[in-house]
Amino acid sequence: MARINDHYLKLAAGYLFPEIGRRVTAFQQANPKADVIRLGIGDVVLPLTPSVRQAMHDAVDEMAIAKSFKGYGPERGYDFLRDAIAKHDFRSRGVEIDPNEIFVSDGSKCDSGNIQEIFAEDATIAIPDPVYPVYVDTNVMAGRTGAAGSDGRYAGIQYLPCTEASGFLPALPKRPVDLVYLCSPNNPTGAVATKAELSKWVDWARANDAIILFDAAYERFVTDPALPRSIFEIEGARECAIEFRSYSKTAGFTGIRCAYVVVPKELTGRDANGGSVAVSKLWDRRTSTKFNGVSYPVQRAAEAIYSEAGSKEVQANIDYYMANAAIIRAGLAKAGFHTFGGVNAPYVWMKTPGGLDSWQFFDALLSKANVVGTPGSGFGSCGEGYLRLSSFGFREKVEEAVGRIVQHFA
Ligand code: MLT
Repeated sequence: MARINDHYLKLAAGYLFPEIGRRVTAFQQANPKADVIRLGIGDVVLPLTPSVRQAMHDAVDEMAIAKSFKGYGPERGYDFLRDAIAKHDFRSRGVEIDPNEIFVSDGSKCDSGNIQEIFAEDATIAIPDPVYPVYVDTNVMAGRTGAAGSDGRYAGIQYLPCTEASGFLPALPKRPVDLVYLCSPNNPTGAVATKAELSKWVDWARANDAIILFDAAYERFVTDPALPRSIFEIEGARECAIEFRSYSKTAGFTGIRCAYVVVPKELTGRDANGGSVAVSKLWDRRTSTKFNGVSYPVQRAAEAIYSEAGSKEVQANIDYYMANAAIIRAGLAKAGFHTFGGVNAPYVWMKTPGGLDSWQFFDALLSKANVVGTPGSGFGSCGEGYLRLSSFGFREKVEEAVGRIVQHFA
């Protein structure tokens, strides 16, 4: 028998969202008449916008003609998309990013999960708690941790608690680490770091020779213009940060798949002899070895969101989801629930009522109100006692879900 990677055996039974899916499917099989409303996984419901659809159609037509057909594309992405990203996502906000520092990919889940591969097996890591579970799980798979304790925390990871008292923002690590993951706007709490907060992190990373892995997948949902949308808005970040961006929620690409990573040229790590190595070279090496690029029609579709019409269409969808978030927040708050987030992020983080733990409330919500949320404890032990509601739903379903939660639990 082939020897397996024992580190996988340390992982909790299932990844969070498939586990939720299993419970919902079992419930539906037992209750086929139940009208279940899904506000669990953050999956978009609004269809592709006209500009995106047209750009994809046109690209498919190009592929159907010999003279414009395209085979393998550049592993890092086509220039037309990387130029558009540098111009619209960064230069328009006063941030200079060279298109060569941009690596187009098929999703931030893969990027934020894969990035750890280019760092040493014994690199030390700090991870906020609660946070997107991919950061922890991929480091467990890579063997950077010991076993999980009874609280689900893995030995070897420095967890950074994000609690109500800290505004759900992590404090600086108490012990030095090589890598720290930050996610702002935060999944799941919806908390957003201010410029002052991010400056503190950049100063710390530079002083401690650490690298910040900054997940900005939800930056487009920031409504407060004073809040940063990129870590590269902070002076000095080019020397200490990598940023992840995604079109999944921004442009309805969860099924289309497109995202990108920014690795600045200045960013370095050290080799076994203490020599300095450009991180972008390693990420490039990894990308060109393991990836053949995102398909041409998908990259044309992503480019279309930067056109005048495309950008307005995408903004309208974001506004729709953010109006949902406001409805969830207001409806629950009026009924006396404690809610957080949902203002600069598409997720509302609510305290579970009646002293229920996260999974107990998840089950009660499903069986009594037929509403699916995401248990806070699935994002880390500090998420215990909370539940995340996603605003990615149709308006009438969101309103109905809020009404049912109030009816059954207020
Ligand atoms: C979430 O619900 O947290 C996200 O949809 C998961 C993901 O983006 O992979």
